[in-house]
Amino acid sequence: MKKSLQKLTFILMTGALFSSTAIAAEPDPARMKEVKKIMMHQMSMMKPELQKKVKTLSPKTQKALMKILSQHTRYSDEITLRQVMHEVLSDYQSIAAGIMTDNPVQAAASARRLANHRIPAGGLLPYLGLDNINDTKLAVLGTFNDSVEGESLKLAKAAESGDMGAAAIHFGKISSGCIACHKVFRSKPGVSDLLR
Ligand code: HEC
Repeated sequence: MKKSLQKLTFILMTGALFSSTAIAAEPDPARMKEVKKIMMHQMSMMKPELQKKVKTLSPKTQKALMKILSQHTRYSDEITLRQVMHEVLSDYQSIAAGIMTDNPVQAAASARRLANHRIPAGGLLPYLGLDNINDTKLAVLGTFNDSVEGESLKLAKAAESGDMGAAAIHFGKISSGCIACHKVFRSKPGVSDLLR
């Protein structure tokens, strides 16, 4: 009885969280239905303290998160954001190899792979730290997404049209997006607490 009540509370809570206000402006209702399902699944994986924080996000932030998610078709319930980041880095390096060897197919295919990078277990939020789960901090995510995913897709087109000069400029903008996001949401990787 208690368990089913908890379940009902959860369904109501996620229903309210990803309410129609968050979806209304999106063009493809079938896709948004899928994305909503994915978000609810991600919510079900989160610990209550994170769920509570996510619940306080404004409809605007929810909509932005759904927009980011709707641009991805690859998900994993096992891997972490750190693992995704290493895969992203490999695609990024493969783009560089494509540009430097004047290989439009390698540059374009790697850029499209990067733009549709995998989403880790529970989505991005569980890896950003509880302190970052608020409207102010998350407002910048859309911008970073535009510079990384958006510029990757532009790079793919530029490479395919044979313009490696333009591709190189987009490559620089992708790098700026990576760095900007790390500045806000990441600290120095691998720092040891055994050093003075
Ligand atoms: C949405 C924000 C965001 C964007 C955009 C982003 N990263 Fe990250 N990145 C993170 C976060 C957060 C971590 C820390 C993850 C962790 O340790 O749990 C991270 C970690 C990393 C790491 C270190 C992994 C480790 O072993 O500690 C690498 C490498 C990395 N990112 C590469 C990239 C590259 C390359 C790009 C651009 C193509 C990029 N990232 C774009 C947020 C981002």
